[in-house]
Amino acid sequence: MAKLEYLLSLTPRESWRILRHRLPGLRGGPSWQPNELIYSSKHGRGIRFAELLLRQEAVVARAMAWEPLNFEGKRVVEVGCGPLGGYGPLALFCGAVSFESAEPEWDAALFESPEVAEKYLFIFYADLVALYGQRMDFDTFRRTLRERMQIQHCGFEKFTMAGKADIVLSQSCLEHVFPIEGTIDKLAEIQHARTRFLHLVDFGNHYPTGNPLDGLYEQPRDDYIARRGKAMNLLRAPDVDALFKSRNIPAKTIPSRFVKETYHGHIHPWWRERYDEDALFTQLALVVGPAA
Ligand SMILES: C[S@@+](CC[C@H](N)C(=O)[O-])C[C@H]1O[C@@H](n2cnc3c(N)ncnc32)[C@H](O)[C@@H]1O
Repeated sequence: MAKLEYLLSLTPRESWRILRHRLPGLRGGPSWQPNELIYSSKHGRGIRFAELLLRQEAVVARAMAWEPLNFEGKRVVEVGCGPLGGYGPLALFCGAVSFESAEPEWDAALFESPEVAEKYLFIFYADLVALYGQRMDFDTFRRTLRERMQIQHCGFEKFTMAGKADIVLSQSCLEHVFPIEGTIDKLAEIQHARTRFLHLVDFGNHYPTGNPLDGLYEQPRDDYIARRGKAMNLLRAPDVDALFKSRNIPAKTIPSRFVKETYHGHIHPWWRERYDEDALFTQLALVVGPAA
């Protein structure tokens, strides 16, 4: 019911995008339109990347020694930055020498449109000034983005870069990547031993349901994917942790939201046989490093 109410609250285009992502055989949403992004409560607020970073770093600092990321002079890479460049504007405003990403839905013309500049980037810029100080004027900010932001229109497994990254980020992306192995191989390739990384992975159903895991465990993983399309790979936190370690990436996986109490659904034996309760009920986790 909650899902239906949610779908009814969306514009026809938004509903069509979700259906295209969720129904097998229809993968690939319609291309983004500037207004659809600018007026989205999620995509339209660029400063949410600063909020996410502040919150996620605070969580990590409770679990291990962690100094806040310093972008000054750094080469920053993001996996799947999304249609508005993700962490790119923030990293470049804060002094990164470059920001690179691979994003299958990237549309350079959309990002350079006057609507995005005036309604998204300018507000984002003003919020960055409030948070980090007047590091540059708006024209310099836009020029810096034009010159130092390079986003490849492909999956991260095909990402190319000369040299290594200093900082690697992703926000709610790794759970959407099919197959994920190529992306982890690519991370191992572009990182050096001191590369700092922070990935937020959302293991939930990505619907506004009462419990964020509702519906996920009623059938084996492959059946869910066959029914709902390749929107989410349905790996759990220990799987992602093991994948990083299998590529010798020194990662620590920190659960950051546990949602057992309000879960009342059936759990198919397929899940019970493979995962303990910690793995089943961790909705959010941070995969960070380098960890000792
Ligand atoms: C939930 S969105 C998050 C986007 C952005 N990180 C944000 O927080 O707004 C997931 C993103 O993963 C991207 N994605 C899916 N498969 C990918 C792949 N193989 N490589 C890189 N990005 C991918 C999608 O295009 C989408 O932009």
